[in-house]
Amino acid sequence: MRIIATINQKGGVGKTTSVTNLGAALANAGQRVLLIDLDPQTHLTLSYNVEPTSERPSVYDVLTNRTPLVDVVRKVRDNIWMISSHINLAAAELELVSVVGREVILRDALATMDQEYDYVFIDCAPSLGLLTLNALTAATEVFIPLQPHFLALQGVGKLFETVALVRDRLNPALSVTGVLLCMYESGTRLAAEVVEDLRQFLDGARGTEVPWANARIFDTVIRRNIKLAECPSHGQTIFDYEPRSNGARDYARLAEEVLGANELSANDEPVEEASSASQTPPVAAENESDEPAVEPQVTESRTSGVSANLA
Ligand SMILES: Nc1ncnc2c1ncn2[C@@H]1O[C@H](COP(=O)(O)OP(=O)(O)OP(=O)(O)O)[C@@H](O)[C@H]1O
Ligand SMILES: [Mg+2]
Repeated sequence: MRIIATINQKGGVGKTTSVTNLGAALANAGQRVLLIDLDPQTHLTLSYNVEPTSERPSVYDVLTNRTPLVDVVRKVRDNIWMISSHINLAAAELELVSVVGREVILRDALATMDQEYDYVFIDCAPSLGLLTLNALTAATEVFIPLQPHFLALQGVGKLFETVALVRDRLNPALSVTGVLLCMYESGTRLAAEVVEDLRQFLDGARGTEVPWANARIFDTVIRRNIKLAECPSHGQTIFDYEPRSNGARDYARLAEEVLGANELSANDEPVEEASSASQTPPVAAENESDEPAVEPQVTESRTSGVSANLA
């Protein structure tokens, strides 16, 4: 069982969209998937058309009342189960402030699971607080969605540092599997520069003891695709909503890559080659209405020094 925490303290980078649709793609490929919404914004919950009401127990009850998982997990699709969130989760951090072992509540709860899953995805809020700490303590892997735009790497150093701290103090099994480029606009110089900085940073860690020593930038990039932004308001995944969109193609391709991840080495082909393949789908879908890639006007001085943020 792979338990994957999807984290980035930067908001709106594609965490929830990726958990929603990668989870669905893996389920389509026959994997048993558990999705945990650890964000009081409840976006993952809503994306699966689950109403986050107070009547039904949520991850909030797991963390604060030790409600057994069996009372919280529900099946939401073929092969997909969900532990939903609730707005109350926003207060959990304060409520747990004096609770001993508050960083490991989720881990301990997952240890009591009565079902076997192939993949557990934990969708985190845009913060590195107690909730995310619980995710990192429970997880075996970290996926970092990132939107390769100006300042994308600001704070990424802190993110890696936090993962290292949790690995050293609470969860020796934790490692960073990869960075997922979301809302990717092919052909933009800015995206290429961010990716290059990130690649250099990751390459510099090879052979060291840090938890990202084997991390890679996923070959599959998730292109900006308006259908991906539309489907949550219908309570649908991209595969329900628009299975022929570029968004569906990208997440299906990512699922293939994730399924084969154990066989891939950290130094695989550069992202440019693979992404250019994924930028040009063999057949244009009839109903495609993707936003055109925009070439941002970026000067050297605005992007130079991004790698300093990774130091
Ligand atoms: N590839 C994409 N193309 C177009 N829109 C996207 C794409 N990925 C995500 N979006 C949209 O961008 C917004 C932010 O995405 P998402 O909610 O997945 O980010 P997040 O990192 O989970 O945000 P938060 O930090 O608030 O939890 C959403 O409106 C989503 O629908
Ligand atoms: Mg989110």
